[in-house]
Amino acid sequence: MPKTLSPAQVDAYARDGFLSPNAALTRGEAAACLRKLEAFEATVGGPLTSDRTDARYRSRTHVLLSWVHALTRHPAILDAVEDLIGPDILVYTSTWFIKEPESAAIAAWHQDATYFGLRPYVHVTAWLALTDATAENGCMEFLPGSHHGGQRPHRAGVVAGSVNRAGQAIVGEVDDAPAVHAPLRAGEFSLHHTLCLHRSEPNRSHGRRIGLAISYVPTSVGHLGVKHKTPAMLVRGVDTYGHFELEPAPKADMDEQARAAYARSYEGYRASYAEQVSLEHR
Ligand code: NI
Repeated sequence: MPKTLSPAQVDAYARDGFLSPNAALTRGEAAACLRKLEAFEATVGGPLTSDRTDARYRSRTHVLLSWVHALTRHPAILDAVEDLIGPDILVYTSTWFIKEPESAAIAAWHQDATYFGLRPYVHVTAWLALTDATAENGCMEFLPGSHHGGQRPHRAGVVAGSVNRAGQAIVGEVDDAPAVHAPLRAGEFSLHHTLCLHRSEPNRSHGRRIGLAISYVPTSVGHLGVKHKTPAMLVRGVDTYGHFELEPAPKADMDEQARAAYARSYEGYRASYAEQVSLEHR
């Protein structure tokens, strides 16, 4: 019996590879989170999109900031994720995807699975909007059913101005005629399968477009990395597998413990990611 999704929604996710929109935060709660993000940006020296700001702060802030951690554990999100991947849930990573007003930043067609090294392919991403995400400001677009086609070859570093730091794109043509926009109101989230092709276009509006992408996997998933045990955080249920280095939840924003855990988390994640990029066959 699903916890929050209807059987029709579970079927739609299985068929399309994404499900959107879904409700999580009220507009007021989303606005409060936005103010906390702005305060964090002020603390670390500027917008997370700025070249002057340490790019590491775009990733894994659920290990550093208790309010981001709370978002990754939001019951509305976890209930939906549980309906798709079961009750024992890890956060593999989280990433801020921010497009500044009238900026050219895009994400080319890609599959999140490409450099994650997670098997089997059951990882699901919740993309939580803190501002309205619209076709005008570059919300995500999905290719329905594209996750059925398996992993496609990608090349990294080929997309200028990518919000995706790897600048990755699928090699070859993508028939994007069936693509659909997934607009979100602030506080809503979309869910997408790790093999579902998606992209986003430039922000042509006068406001920031801000979302937090949270990657969830069941504890049963394995990681292909051989050099490192990849970090992940248990956010629901139990982990009887031990495939990941479980990391602690932050008790307070950026306290000494959280900073130390974040440094380990970031380095561990980057090392695993680099190992996957270095592997030739995927
Ligand atoms: Ni993506």
